[in-house]
Amino acid sequence: RRIVVLGGGENAEHDVSLATAAAVAEALRATGFDVDELTIDRDGTWRRGADALGSRAIDSLAAALGVIERADVVFPAIHGPCGEDGTLAALCALAHTPMAGSGLRAGAIGMDKWATKLVAEALGIRTAPARLVTAAEIADVEFEADVVVKPASAGSSFGVALARDALQLRDALCRAARLDDRILIEDVVRGREIDVAVLREADGRPWAAPPLEIHADGVFDTESKYDGSALFSVPADLDDTSRTALTDAALRMFDALGCAGVARIDFFLTDHGPVLNEVNTMPGMTPESQVPKMFAAAGLSYEQLVARLVDAAAI
Ligand code: DAL
Ligand code: MG
Repeated sequence: RRIVVLGGGENAEHDVSLATAAAVAEALRATGFDVDELTIDRDGTWRRGADALGSRAIDSLAAALGVIERADVVFPAIHGPCGEDGTLAALCALAHTPMAGSGLRAGAIGMDKWATKLVAEALGIRTAPARLVTAAEIADVEFEADVVVKPASAGSSFGVALARDALQLRDALCRAARLDDRILIEDVVRGREIDVAVLREADGRPWAAPPLEIHADGVFDTESKYDGSALFSVPADLDDTSRTALTDAALRMFDALGCAGVARIDFFLTDHGPVLNEVNTMPGMTPESQVPKMFAAAGLSYEQLVARLVDAAAI
């Protein structure tokens, strides 16, 4: 079968998406699939291999749509806005081409950290207390206590900062506002950082791989996510009650959003149980990423995981 892998993209996670796409394409080729790679440049121009598909971004998109339409399955390995947020899922749906991973709704809600919180709260799953401000309001925000500032829609910790005083808060808000005009100001949650990966198989059944614990030296930020310095333990050392609470919350979020393919659901494990941090509907699948390690702990190789995502692809 012919699989088209999409990589790159127009957001801050461009390079991470290139790394995920390259690893996915390599795994699919090793499994015997016929793989075509489309890349979206930072300016929105689509390329097939090294060649731009048109001189203007809009022409290249039209040409890319032709490639997508002829594919048996599209694997949109693009993180962040204009990728993971449902835009590529919508493109594939309009082209009537099966796609690996989550559809428009799960992508859009999962990409939006504020909307994710509202769903979690409706399910009785705790999240960090937070308020949402718009970029136009940031000058009026006053420092009261340590907070974490995040763009509502971004990934790989781009634009995320801990603010411990008024100056840091101002700086963090300005940086976050460069990535999104909606910004979250969250209370700091203290707990162990635990990720849960869920895979929906071709038969529709979702299951959770053994959770993974992140031991970052300080904050698990953009740098430590990809420089190989973060240590993971998988399976995480958890008592039965905590493991059940984490996987149960992850599966309920996965189902509530209607996720497909694989999602990584990130938590803080506090003294009072799990606190949901976020849902990633196209989680990093670079060699440094958590998802391949979690499925390896479940006995699934990277090649097997990627092949199952293709098998479960749907329109
Ligand atoms: N947003 C990054 C790629 C992740 O979730 O792994
Ligand atoms: Mg994320």
